[in-house]
Amino acid sequence: MAISNQDNILNSNLKELIDLLKPYIKSHKYWFVFLNIIAIVAAIAQTMFPLIIGDAIDNAFSDLDLITLQSTFFILIGLVLLDLLAQFGARYIGLNFAQRIIFDIRQNIFIKLQNQELDFYSKETTGQIMAKTMEEVYSLRDILTWGYRMTILMIFLFLGAISSMITLGISEIPNNNFGPFYLALAFFVIPVIIFITISKTSANNRLVFYNARFKFGEMSEAMAENLSGIHTVKSFGSENEQIEIFNEKNHEFYDAALKGAQVRGLLQPGVIFIIGLAIVFLVFIGGYLVSIESITPGTFITFMLLSLQIALPGRFIGWVGIITQDANSAAIRLNEIFESTISVTDYPNAKAYDNVDGKIQFSNVTFSYDNNSLALNDINLKIAKGENIVLLGQTGSGKSSLVNLIPRFFDPISGQVLIDNIDIKDFTLNSLRRNIGVVHQDAFLFTMSIHDNIAFGKPNASREEVIISAKAAQIHEYIMTLDHGYDTIVGERGVTLSGGQRQRVTIARVLLKNPKILIFDDSVSAVDPKTEKLIMENLKNVSSNRTTIIISQRASSLKFADRIVVLDGGTIKQIGSHSELISVEGIYKEFIKAVNEQVKFMDWSDNDEQKNLSKIIPEESK
Ligand SMILES: Nc1ncnc2c1ncn2[C@@H]1O[C@H](COP(=O)(O)OP(=O)(O)OP(=O)(O)O)[C@@H](O)[C@H]1O
Ligand SMILES: [Mg+2]
Repeated sequence: MAISNQDNILNSNLKELIDLLKPYIKSHKYWFVFLNIIAIVAAIAQTMFPLIIGDAIDNAFSDLDLITLQSTFFILIGLVLLDLLAQFGARYIGLNFAQRIIFDIRQNIFIKLQNQELDFYSKETTGQIMAKTMEEVYSLRDILTWGYRMTILMIFLFLGAISSMITLGISEIPNNNFGPFYLALAFFVIPVIIFITISKTSANNRLVFYNARFKFGEMSEAMAENLSGIHTVKSFGSENEQIEIFNEKNHEFYDAALKGAQVRGLLQPGVIFIIGLAIVFLVFIGGYLVSIESITPGTFITFMLLSLQIALPGRFIGWVGIITQDANSAAIRLNEIFESTISVTDYPNAKAYDNVDGKIQFSNVTFSYDNNSLALNDINLKIAKGENIVLLGQTGSGKSSLVNLIPRFFDPISGQVLIDNIDIKDFTLNSLRRNIGVVHQDAFLFTMSIHDNIAFGKPNASREEVIISAKAAQIHEYIMTLDHGYDTIVGERGVTLSGGQRQRVTIARVLLKNPKILIFDDSVSAVDPKTEKLIMENLKNVSSNRTTIIISQRASSLKFADRIVVLDGGTIKQIGSHSELISVEGIYKEFIKAVNEQVKFMDWSDNDEQKNLSKIIPEESK
């Protein structure tokens, strides 16, 4: 995949990085101030060094002034110690400051991800999100600690050196001696060349670094997708094809990382080369000026020490430039998460409504995932409180889309969904979803105990409550056969349950939450018909005053329906009770006919499902 925001990256300068970090620096301002003070102390200690030495050479050494020599010695020792302390403090504070910011950014990303709605996750892959939250955030550490400290040090050393140079440079002008001035001028060429080199290369470098990060995300994506689909890979024996796909992504990352390495490899030595060359020139110009007695040896040594002094951190300028550009690329990727809009949010006047009656109404609801094709077209449907509805329809007819609008997993493009005559947009999302329990087809269990999995929506539930729900979901007896019963760890790193067992645990999870509106999206598909019947019967008992919407292709579910809603191509084609619908020509009658033909075709004489069917399918329709 290509990078879509190339222009943005080329033009961003450091804006993205500054925008990202500003609020965090503000909230840790004391650490930041302290870090600055201590870095400044270190910088001053280091800048003083050459000035004092130069002065001592010209005054104390030449006149053999022992007292000045002695005090110079102690001042220098003091400066070295001060520098040591300040450097140590700056490292400690810098790391602390950086870790605090990284902690906050990670936390905020996680909060943002939790608040994002489902359409965000259909655009961003898990692999890219993982790469951003782990790699990108971590890469900010370098710039916040070492990079920032170095920048302060360099600014001060440059400022110190520049002011000393200016002083020295103009000191002899009144005597018509331009030697020190020329030397200072030659000296200034160094930072100017370095600055030009870095700024000229930075836009392109940013793109190179962004690309490497993006490719790393794609590689993580390939890895994550493979691992979550490993069953399919194994059953199709496609390991080699998968290795090929990963190899390609790995290669693309390798190439991108290599380009990054070239940039790093060139820029820093380039800067070091410029500095080295400049020093050679300074030695020659300075030496010449000493020989014609235009400057004193002391001035010459001060100049040389000052240039060496900035040469040392100057060697790191290239490196600081690189990690800043890299951090900026990371910031661009992090801002993609932070700046992504949350499509479904609380409306300003939303209120919390608890304990709704459970009356649901769809009024002229039209919905599209992509604003292109309609998944639902002008849906009008009233569901009474406590009613049991079965949604029927071919695959792709819009059943899941319809129920997903009730908890506002998505918002319709027009029309209204109401609960108890209140537009669901007037509910806070939290309270809306508290009133609704959805059991999805893909029964997901977290890596924790069965008890905790069932109590997911009500963490303080007692064991008794958990058991009641598990019994209603027909999973209690199975749980009791496990060595650790309800404390058995399930999920990715625990005991593996069968598809049907997992579905039943997720049903128990929703029953425990005890919502007024229950939605089953094909959630008994992996349960055998006999168990399904038991679950449905239990549901009937616990759901007498609960509104229930069941999406199921099983004929046995129909028995429990007060009304059946038949969807086709995103519109409601039929609504009515079984006896109403079976007496007219239409999709429903066709469906029942097809089921009956299946039943006839097989010998199901001792099967409960047939008994159920014979109850719900009147003779005349057979
Ligand atoms: N996340 C999505 N993004 C884009 N289109 C989607 C998305 N989910 C579903 N669709 C499309 O919307 C239409 C209705 O899909 P929906 O999932 O509601 O069907 P369904 O009746 O639940 O089918 P099934 O019985 O297979 O679960 C389909 O054409 C489908 O391709
Ligand atoms: Mg569906």
